[in-house]
Amino acid sequence: MRPLDTRPYTVAGLLAEIAHIGADRLRGGYSRPVFSAAELELREWFIAHALKRGLDVEIDAVGAIRAWWHTRTRMTRGAVLSGSHLDSVPGGGAFDGPLGIASALVAVDLLRARGFEPDKPLVIAAFPEEEGSRFGVACLGSRLLTGAITPERALALRDPDGDSFAEVLARNGFDPRAVSSDPEGVRAFDAFVELHVEQGRALVDLDAPVAIGSSILGHGRWRARITGEGNHAGTTLMGDRHDPMVAAARTISAIRDVARATEDARATVGRLQPVPGGTNVIASRVDFWIDVRHPDDTVTATLLESIRNAMELLAAEEGCHADLTEESFSATTRFDPTLRRSLEEVLPGAPVLDTGAGHDAGVLASLIPTAMLFVRNPTGVSHSPAEYTTDLDAELGAERLADVLQQLLAEHARPAYLN
Ligand code: GLV
Ligand code: MN
Ligand code: MN
Repeated sequence: MRPLDTRPYTVAGLLAEIAHIGADRLRGGYSRPVFSAAELELREWFIAHALKRGLDVEIDAVGAIRAWWHTRTRMTRGAVLSGSHLDSVPGGGAFDGPLGIASALVAVDLLRARGFEPDKPLVIAAFPEEEGSRFGVACLGSRLLTGAITPERALALRDPDGDSFAEVLARNGFDPRAVSSDPEGVRAFDAFVELHVEQGRALVDLDAPVAIGSSILGHGRWRARITGEGNHAGTTLMGDRHDPMVAAARTISAIRDVARATEDARATVGRLQPVPGGTNVIASRVDFWIDVRHPDDTVTATLLESIRNAMELLAAEEGCHADLTEESFSATTRFDPTLRRSLEEVLPGAPVLDTGAGHDAGVLASLIPTAMLFVRNPTGVSHSPAEYTTDLDAELGAERLADVLQQLLAEHARPAYLN
């Protein structure tokens, strides 16, 4: 075997290696949809770094990558999972996802530099399609793994070009018939700790570099479809139109009003697709996607009903028809309190924060104890090129992750579920 490269890496150094991959000249920032050339290149980068460290790499039927730092006994039960995702939103930042992967790699370097030998395996995972930017369902990889979505439904999902997830998998060398859920396999892990860039500015205000996560706001996505009558922009009198774009615009405004009237609610329309989409064409149909979030899932359901009612009414006023379809939903998640206490012991004084952003950690939390660490983001902005972390905070984050993993990987650390 080739001698291992034991050079200690830095998070900033690792991220600099991928700073050119998926840079989006049109939108700014990064566009790294799952199974795009950019995301595939990032996978290669991650695998190369895992192999360089002597980790054993396995890739599952949907392309989730897991890099194992084995113990001498090569036991597989009781492993501790860390990592995040490599895919991005369109025009996203450099840190959402890759920071968690790079930090986990550096945590391995740091633990080795400390002379630490784990009693349990550490697995660094890259979950595919966390953002749901290509196939519409957020955290698709972890949902499939845990059984939160069936393989049949996942394989039938289509991207904006009309290609199904099954077709895209096959094109990338995966056998769609091999796709299955593995909740028992997930339960064999002791814990999952995901480090992530903070997606707000709480840590800036608290003047602290790293926080421990407490909960994830319930969130879901719905596809709204308003169907009208496609026609000519010049020859169709204003009174003769059934324009779904007008109904969509009025609905989007109503969605904002509904969310504003409910404490702690967030509702967003960030993607809209007119068909056929011509400047001089009255659209025949407009699809747009609604992201709704609230800590109380029953309130989310009520918000959706208000939105549905408003949309049906406004569509009818334009002589159009409205449809609303749920694409994904994640209930509010509270992270395992015992695991969180372990993190608080390792990082005394670290602030504890909830988040409005979704994560694979929220999906895995349904089966195993899960925790998150957030690293300060000076701009407080995320899902945007303005997302940021200083080099110093990124290194501090990796060190704190190493501290936490060192505790969890030691034999004396009982599985959180036994405490
Ligand atoms: C993912 O980052 C989300 O919150 O949608
Ligand atoms: Mn994100
Ligand atoms: Mn993320």
